[in-house]
Amino acid sequence: LGKDIRHFMELESTNDYAKTIAKDTTEGTVVVAEVQKKGRGRRGFDWVSPHGGVWISIVLKPSIVSADASRLTLVGGLAVVDSLKSIGLTPSLKWPNDVLVNGKKICGILTEMEAEIDRVEYIVLGMGINLNFNTEMLPEEIRDGSTTISDELGTYVDRLEFVRSLLYNLEQYYVHFKTQPFEELMERWIDSSDTIGRKVRIVTPSKMVDGRAIGISPSGGLLLQKNNGSTEEILSGRCIYI
Ligand code: BTN
Repeated sequence: LGKDIRHFMELESTNDYAKTIAKDTTEGTVVVAEVQKKGRGRRGFDWVSPHGGVWISIVLKPSIVSADASRLTLVGGLAVVDSLKSIGLTPSLKWPNDVLVNGKKICGILTEMEAEIDRVEYIVLGMGINLNFNTEMLPEEIRDGSTTISDELGTYVDRLEFVRSLLYNLEQYYVHFKTQPFEELMERWIDSSDTIGRKVRIVTPSKMVDGRAIGISPSGGLLLQKNNGSTEEILSGRCIYI
């Protein structure tokens, strides 16, 4: 990863830019911006992306079916967790795409794909990590539930070094993803997760279900044991701890 790195002072969104070049670029191309003007989060939300953060998208071209694409979100989360641990933090993963520190969101992941007849053509793995800025920079509505690396550590960290570590870890996990069964990564994800074992409410555009998160499915979905005892695989949705 990262043989081709496209760095910008400012972009609307690194994911949007990555999608425009993805077809014609080699796997592993990295798009990174100092500031995003229209950073996007999941479910159409804005992602506030000031100076000091890591706003990065990676073009991947794994030969997988589209139903397995959310596995890559989990792979991205594992890489972020390792990089955060290496600077002394204690992160945890919240299904499907958040990395938390002390129960607050420090990183969000937005995986987008293009598929043809169910085969994935490319995946853009977008990661936003709140690094060298304080939560005061964020809008009031999300300030309480968010944190940043500088808030947690009380100091700035070397941003380039952090990106290097992130790409290194991501490459290790991605090679593992491509060459080994997914189960090991699933287990690793569960080990670092604070979702499994919890009572949760899952909200999707069509429904809302409560239950206990009991595991991760082979496609990267959440296994939910519902209050009536039956188990359901949730492929995507919002997860609220209750
Ligand atoms: C979320 O938690 O809602 C996902 C947030 C993803 C933000 C990153 S920042 C880099 C990339 N470019 C975007 O526009 N979004 C992702």
